[in-house]
Amino acid sequence: MAAYIVTGASRGIGFAFLQNLSSNSANIVIGLVRNKAGVESKIAAWNRTNIHFVQGDLNDYDSLERAVEATAEITGGALVEMFRTNVVGNVHLFNLFLPLVLKGNVKKVITLSTGMADIEIARAYNIHENGPYAISKAALNMAVAKFSAEYSKDGVLFIGICPGLVDTSRYANVAPDDAVKDVLSVAKKASVANGDGGSYVSHFGNKTWL
Ligand SMILES: NC(=O)c1ccc[n+]([C@@H]2O[C@H](COP(=O)([O-])OP(=O)(O)OC[C@H]3O[C@@H](n4cnc5c(N)ncnc54)[C@H](OP(=O)(O)O)[C@@H]3O)[C@@H](O)[C@H]2O)c1
Repeated sequence: MAAYIVTGASRGIGFAFLQNLSSNSANIVIGLVRNKAGVESKIAAWNRTNIHFVQGDLNDYDSLERAVEATAEITGGALVEMFRTNVVGNVHLFNLFLPLVLKGNVKKVITLSTGMADIEIARAYNIHENGPYAISKAALNMAVAKFSAEYSKDGVLFIGICPGLVDTSRYANVAPDDAVKDVLSVAKKASVANGDGGSYVSHFGNKTWL
């Protein structure tokens, strides 16, 4: 995820930047405008939840200071939102579906994680991008470990698997079909008996992410 601030976002080239950058749902795009209501109604039909407007007039210094505060609230909100979906949402999902999983023969819960959540990789390469996403996925990895700790005695495998850099976004080249084959292959080989419960691995089944 990247956050962009676009000034002059109400029309012209700024408006085109707003449209272009927000077409990638992984971006947060903040438009700095003088008239929020006007531009909000102009883009209402786009239905893009990743666009936010803050009031700011380049000829009014105080309004720019207020815009910084409003922007900090919006980007902080992004972290909360990521946590709600990736951590709280998945924990609810695990809990609610567990009775069905326990009745099944295979008993495997596969969570799509990401190499971005690997603390050692972030440290080694100073990867500062995608903070809220990476932080929420790292927390999700811990949720997977905790559920595994509790349910491995019942034969349930919980595992987090990174699918690779898959072409559902703009900067990836692995086809979704291939990623699915890789993830399923790792999932099939993994088992509680082999000690895979609660682990977090790549589509190669190890810590090689790309
Ligand atoms: N693509 C990659 O390179 C890559 C790399 C590492 C990990 N991953 C992980 O793989 C998973 C899928 O990624 P993707 O690239 O396929 O993402 P995507 O193209 O953005 O698709 C996300 C899917 O999740 C659904 N979704 C989002 N928020 C939801 C919510 N609150 N409740 C229910 N469904 C929701 C979306 O449904 P709507 O259409 O309704 O929004 C959509 O079907 C993610 O967990 C991602 O972190 C992807």
